Amino acid sequence: MLIYKSPKEIEKIKISNQIVAGILTELEKEVRPGITTLYLNDVAEELACKKKALPAFKGYKGYPYSLCTSVNNVVVHGLPSKKQLVEGDIISIDFGVLFGGYYGDSAITVPVGKISKSAKKLILTTKESLYKGIEKALPGGRLSDISNAVQSHAESEGYSVVRVFVGHGIGSSLHEDPQIPNYGKPGIGIMLNAGMTIAIEPMVNEKGCEVEILEDGWTAITKDGGLSAHFEHTIAITDKGPVILSERIVS
Ligand code: MF3
Ligand code: CO
Repeated sequence: MLIYKSPKEIEKIKISNQIVAGILTELEKEVRPGITTLYLNDVAEELACKKKALPAFKGYKGYPYSLCTSVNNVVVHGLPSKKQLVEGDIISIDFGVLFGGYYGDSAITVPVGKISKSAKKLILTTKESLYKGIEKALPGGRLSDISNAVQSHAESEGYSVVRVFVGHGIGSSLHEDPQIPNYGKPGIGIMLNAGMTIAIEPMVNEKGCEVEILEDGWTAITKDGGLSAHFEHTIAITDKGPVILSERIVS
């Protein structure tokens, strides 16, 4: 079932997403060699608490932390731990909150110190793929126009997109219809209309698209050990086009 939002509701979803955006900006500043991903989780919780926002992931289907910290070959849902980040790592930080009855959800991938040229390119291409998808979130378009734009851009650089995880509608639930795959032919699926709020979240792998889940039941890693990057924005589809609700003030 699709749940359309009024401009007032979209304003509220934006407030939640701006809390997430602000916290991701603070977390990015904390990322450096020697810190642990558990530390990032604690900082995120503290900042959310200050904003009177509830971390959205903790307890969701039993997820044990507030943050997903996915390092190098971890695709998504990496569990924060006491392991230290080291120079050259890349880390995806995925965070969500519930505030005023509405959810915010966004993710970034950032370098730990100096990283290889190839890792930089993977991060940049994944971010670009997200924005290519967002550009296609237009009233009158079709859902898979987004999917196809994401896939085409990632594959044009020789990368693969993960199939088993998808983007999603978002509002008074963290996950609503529709599911938004990051691959597919254009021009199919539901029609996109003003009033839809969706989270688009490409996961792009340096090598193959296959993933496997570790015994913890959460951590998704690349089967071939290749690097993976992940970006996510919550957007609203409006008559004027897509509006990025989780846009960060600093890039
Ligand atoms: N951004 C991810 C999603 O929307 C994060 C969810 S982690 C979970 O699916 F723990 F909440 F599942
Ligand atoms: Co999401």
